[in-house]
Amino acid sequence: MRVDVISIFPEYFAPLDVSLIGKARERGILDVHLHQLRDWARDVHRTVDDTPYGGGPGMVMKPEPWGEAIDAVLAADPAAQPRIIVPTPSGVPFTQKLAMEYAAEPWLLFTPARYEGIDSRVMAEYGARMRVDEVSVGDYVLAGGEVAVLVMVEAVGRLLPGVLGNAHSAVDDSFAPGAMENLLEGPVYTKPPEWRGHEVPEILLSGHHGKIARWRRDEALRRTARNRLELLAALDPETLDKHDRKL
Ligand code: ADE
Repeated sequence: MRVDVISIFPEYFAPLDVSLIGKARERGILDVHLHQLRDWARDVHRTVDDTPYGGGPGMVMKPEPWGEAIDAVLAADPAAQPRIIVPTPSGVPFTQKLAMEYAAEPWLLFTPARYEGIDSRVMAEYGARMRVDEVSVGDYVLAGGEVAVLVMVEAVGRLLPGVLGNAHSAVDDSFAPGAMENLLEGPVYTKPPEWRGHEVPEILLSGHHGKIARWRRDEALRRTARNRLELLAALDPETLDKHDRKL
């Protein structure tokens, strides 16, 4: 997968050299291209923002540098089109489902903004020619979209074939489609069997796979009820068995 990021802070993306995503890049599974937006500014101060029409606080990112930067990225492969992802707290929620959708794309272009956001005509211009998603990583406001891009690249990157080793797997993740859809993963334990007087639940030491699977599901349901009641309420009743209902 090719990933392009246009930002006034390309240095924000240093963590993409590290760990799972860093290895995916070394192995050629993920091809990341970082671009400095100011390279497409036209004045000596390399200005990328201006005051908002209609008044109000803050600054808005000018359309011209964004247009030229995006055109330059698009020119890298005129035969293909990236899916453009604009991080903004006003966007649709970024979910595991959307991460999976992005993981199936060959090319993503992220356009993280600073200030009050990007002049809306940029999204209108490219939205008429290709898919442009305005996406939020949560109901809070970050200082800019860069960290939101890191969140999305990590969530998408770990889903690419060959990125996760056999040791772990994405199928048991919270929110994974199938048995864990809309359920949070329960607690996990490793050795030693007792630590500071706390014992590992005996069932996990029993070797009884059926009972362990049942216990894990119970814990997932309990944790979801405790932390995310709205997810539990949204569970498809058809996916609940008799034992789930008793819980
Ligand atoms: N930029 C600022 N806050 C954001 C958020 N919550 N999600 C995506 N981009 C953002």
